[in-house]
Amino acid sequence: MAKAAKERIGILGGTFNPIHQGHIAMAQCALTSASLTRVLLLPDSVPPHKTGIAPKEDRWRMVCAAAEGIEGLEPCRMELDREGTTYTFDTLTALRGENPKAELYYIIGTDTLMELRNWHRWREVLGLCTFLVCPRRTDHAPAAVRAERALLEGLGAKIRPLTMEPVDVSSTELREALASDAPTGLINPAVRAYCHARGLYGTPEVDPRSEQWMEQLFRDLTVKRFAHTLGVAFIARNLARVHHVDDRKAEIAGLLHDCAKCLPLKDMQRIALDHALTSDKETLASGALLHSVAGAWMTEHVYGVEDPEILAAIACHTTGKVGMSRLDLVVYLADKIEPGRPSYPLLDKVRIMAPLSLERAVLTSMEGTIAYVSGKGKPIHHQTLDTVAWLRSLPENSGRSQAEAKE
Ligand SMILES: [Fe+2]
Ligand SMILES: [Fe+2]
Repeated sequence: MAKAAKERIGILGGTFNPIHQGHIAMAQCALTSASLTRVLLLPDSVPPHKTGIAPKEDRWRMVCAAAEGIEGLEPCRMELDREGTTYTFDTLTALRGENPKAELYYIIGTDTLMELRNWHRWREVLGLCTFLVCPRRTDHAPAAVRAERALLEGLGAKIRPLTMEPVDVSSTELREALASDAPTGLINPAVRAYCHARGLYGTPEVDPRSEQWMEQLFRDLTVKRFAHTLGVAFIARNLARVHHVDDRKAEIAGLLHDCAKCLPLKDMQRIALDHALTSDKETLASGALLHSVAGAWMTEHVYGVEDPEILAAIACHTTGKVGMSRLDLVVYLADKIEPGRPSYPLLDKVRIMAPLSLERAVLTSMEGTIAYVSGKGKPIHHQTLDTVAWLRSLPENSGRSQAEAKE
């Protein structure tokens, strides 16, 4: 029988305050360059009184959202849940205990390599893992780095440099960009939406209940759905600003639009029937449709949001409705084009149209959905067909060419 290959586990620790694209690039480079099976992302536990560091559960949820959908990246709570000071020695020993046959690879930057001999029980650490070293535009002279590496290797360290663009994302600059709402590609939109909604790093909190909201959403939704929700909040807020719609309402509706999505269908049906939310048989039979109606109810009665415009936008985000408000259109569209959406026909076109015309973009998106669903021989909800007819009648869509309408 062929011997199974040893598992090769990468470890990337850090405060992740917040996690950014530099961290993700390091993890992905290690994953492929060292043929790792997986890379664990380990946010560390920081004493609660330390200023400038976001609460650990916030940092954890952001790490989960950032890693979502990236194969091979795996958030791990080991250091987060440990009481007292976190030492790499303890983490590596614990991981070795859990994975006795695996090879461990600790991912660091050159700056950390230069400080390695200050670590707690560093001589023992050298024997526990291989170091994968990412380049940094460090202050240390290359000759000094080479000398340190040679010294450590002489003591038995296994060190392997990684070839990649130097990762020098300044967390301070990143936090400044967040606080000033400046655009930056250094942070995942879902993480950005999380920071904004929670009021982290100098951003204004969207609502005083945001901590409870995030806790509940993270508990009730899958991580994939949670990350999607943040992506929708991000796009809804941006679209609202472009189209002069209330961006706070758009952000809240985006955050909560799928709050019922992961409930079992029978629970959605119970909510809908107990509170006489709909008698439509087609809607009651489908979680894909019913979660919007049940979600609007939960938004009001579980999350405590009473704004009728937000509730209406959530209630119609699956089928649309005749006479959709501009907030309804923003939320509908954000759901269809958020950055984490897997590609579908017309996605690029709808994304280009969205900042130009809400009515046109929603119509294009709905026509695409109808073509796709009909192509599979499935029925289209009558409310969607009515919405399409209504959108076609609007002046914003009167200039559409025949060719565009048929595309
Ligand atoms: Fe939904
Ligand atoms: Fe959604």
